[in-house]
Order: sequence, then structure tokens, then C-alpha cells
Amino acid sequence: MSASIDLARADLLGDDAVRDPYPLLAALREHDPVHWSEKYRSWFVTRFDDVSDALRDPRFSSDRISPYRRAKLDGPDADPAVRAAFGVLEDWMVFQDPPDHTRLRKLLSRAFTPRAVDRVRARVVDVADELLDAALAAGTGTTDLIADYAYPLTAAVIAEMLGVPRRDHPRFKDWSDQITGLVFGGMGDPNRHTAGANGMAELTEYLTGLVRDHERDPADDLLSALISARDDDDALSQDEVISTGVLLLFAGHETTTNLIGSGLLALLRDPGQRALLAADPALVGGAVEELLRFDGPAKTVARLMADDVELRGRTLRRGERVFLCPSSANRDPAVFEDPDRLDITRRQGRQLGFGVGMHYCLGAPLARLEAAVAIPRALERLPGLRPAEDELRWHPVLLSRGMLRFPVVFDRP
Ligand code: HEM
Repeated sequence: MSASIDLARADLLGDDAVRDPYPLLAALREHDPVHWSEKYRSWFVTRFDDVSDALRDPRFSSDRISPYRRAKLDGPDADPAVRAAFGVLEDWMVFQDPPDHTRLRKLLSRAFTPRAVDRVRARVVDVADELLDAALAAGTGTTDLIADYAYPLTAAVIAEMLGVPRRDHPRFKDWSDQITGLVFGGMGDPNRHTAGANGMAELTEYLTGLVRDHERDPADDLLSALISARDDDDALSQDEVISTGVLLLFAGHETTTNLIGSGLLALLRDPGQRALLAADPALVGGAVEELLRFDGPAKTVARLMADDVELRGRTLRRGERVFLCPSSANRDPAVFEDPDRLDITRRQGRQLGFGVGMHYCLGAPLARLEAAVAIPRALERLPGLRPAEDELRWHPVLLSRGMLRFPVVFDRP
């Protein structure tokens, strides 16, 4: 398999790799597990043990926005809107190292609790059913499971958790698309920073108003919980509440949308596994973990070297960028038997789809809940569901794995 792949030119953004990155990742894992890409001026680390160790190693720093801001955005020629947008990203805990990360994570954990997640369970089921009712009522026997199902479902749930009024939900789609360009961007697209900055400016202005409303009139929602979260005398500043709100809105649905989409596709392509889940709904927890392993949204997780590190005979130098690849680690045959096979009954426990270590995904319980509802619900309710294989489109980005378009066909009722 790997013989036909030219590793010197390995490119995760090549057309074939965007559609299916796994053959290229397998070749890298086997022949060049710590790979230097000239095109991206970055390292790519693909073996399970290396990815897992690096995610726990402080020399692989998460503080990767402020060096960029200092290098590129502090000069007089920089666009002030882009600088402001990166200022919001800089406050995200996912881009920070201790002690700043420790402080923010503690405060956010006080607000984003398992109880807060549990409270939205019934709402997840209702929104999923409303969206499926609409797909069935349209009477065309076609829908797009990203645009018309996974995306509006996850966006509505996190927006409602935060306390964004329902009438404002439609505005989030554009903002979120623009911010996606800023965070995940196809590398080299010159317009993504300007578009992302506009989206960020509008969203932060909107959230500033919402935070003021919540300060005056607290509610039983996540934004009020963020405003009042305390760790001894410490609390989030107003700017931190706003940037954390943006982080949750963003992190809260882009990735989960991708998991629901790719998870549904994997089951639709594997009738045996689909039948297994239909016959025993109690398998859903293990199925979600397996779908995260098999084709999860975290294609890569970026780090910046804070020190020189020797890894498998290569020297990763201070200041260099590294892409750690959970999507490759999760297919490593050294850890997972027959890793390219979907097996929802597989013994679970080690996949890296939510990361590992101090930055382990804070939203994992919400993502698991949404996927565990949304995936079986669509399979149950849309009769004869099948993907329109030729029309699938995947995000051409390094960091995340998911579909832009997921058209499907089903039998008209
Ligand atoms: C962190 C994946 C859903 C909030 C992370 C990380 C990964 C990840 C890999 C670690 C990043 C790193 O080490 O740099 C995913 C996947 C999801 C998902 C695959 C869906 C299937 C969510 C949801 C939320 C969320 C629903 C919130 C509502 C966060 C936050 C962090 C994070 C706040 C930062 C944690 C920290 O820095 O300590 N996620 N995530 N995620 N995720 Fe998620």
C-alpha cells in the first residue's frame, strides 16, 4: 500500500488525502513516523506512543497564538481587526500553557459540569427529532446530514446551553464559518484572516451585549455560570468570559458536527455494524468511541516546540511547529488490532480522539451525548438511508477531519 506513496511529497491536503487520509498516514507511521514537511515547514508525528507522549510533554507547547501575534500582527501594517481577533484566540485555554491554562481550566470546569450537560439530554433528542421531521416532511427523499442535521443540532444545543436566545441562532452559522477559517484555515488562503476577523468582531460584539444582560439578570445557563465561576478569589474577567463563550460556541459544535457526519457515513458504509447497533441500542456508547477512533474529527493537534527534543532520531528544534496526529495514532496497529476495521464491540479505552493530558477535551461528555443521540436517531428514522457517495465533500484542512457536504438519499414515506 505504502510503496506507491512518495513520502518526500506527503501532503495531507492533497486531493486523495483530503478524501481519505488513512493510507498516507499509514505510510508515514511505518516509514517516516516523525516526518518533516517542507511544504508546511512543520513536523508530523503519527505513531500512537509518540502522539500520546507528546500531548503530555510540556516541551510541546500549546501557546502557539501569541508568538504568531508578536511576529506577524504587532507591526504598524497589521490589520487591527485581525489583531483583535487573534487577541480573542489568545485567551482560549486550548492555546495556553500552565499556569494560565490551569487557572482558566479550573474556572471553566466549575461552569461546564456533567450536570449542565445532563440537563440538555432531552433537548438534544427534541432538536434531532425536529430536524428529522423537517427532512421527512420536505418529501424529496434527500437531505444533507451536515447542513440540515448535524450542524443545526449541535449549534442549537451549545447556543441554548450558553443562553443565546433562539431567535439569534441563525446568525451563528456565518460567524462560525468565518472563525473556522481563522482557527482551522486551509493554509495559504490569504483571505481567511480578514473574513475570520469580521466574524469574530461581530460575534464578540454580540456576546458583549449578552454578557451585560446576564450580569444584570442572571439565568440558569452556562454564560451566567461563567460570570459567577469562582476559584478562591479568582474569577474570569469580562473579556475572558466573552472569549470563553466564543471558544465554547465554536468548539461546541464544529467538531461534534464532524463526528456525527463521519460516524453516520462509516455506519452507512458498513451494513453489518449498522445492523449490530440497530439490534442492540445498548452498544451505542462503545459505537461512539469506535467511531471517534475510526474516523474522528481531530485529524491533527498543533504544538510549538518550547525546547529541542530528540524523537526517533530526528531533532525537533525550539520554535518549530508540530502536528500530532490523533487520527493516525488511532489507526496504529501496534495498539489496535485490525485498525482499519470498524468494530463497535471493540474493547475501548485508549483512543486519542479527544486528546489526552491537561488539554483533554472538556466537552467530551456533551459530544458523546450528542453523537449517541443523533447517530442512531437518523439511522432509525430515515428509511433506506444511503449516502450520495459521488457528492460527498471533505474539509480541505490539516487540523480537522469532517465533511463539508454530506448529501443522502432515503425512501420517501
Ligand atoms: C479540547 C476534540 C467536542 C470543548 C479538545 C482537544 C481535542 C478535542 C482533541 C485537545 C486539544 C489539544 O490538546 O490541543 C474534540 C472532539 C469533539 C469535541 C473530537 C467532538 C466530537 C467539544 C465540545 C466542547 C469542547 C462539544 C464544548 C462544548 C473543548 C475545550 C477544549 C477542548 C474547551 C480545551 C481544553 C483545554 O485546553 O484544557 N477537544 N472536542 N469540545 N475541547 Fe473538544
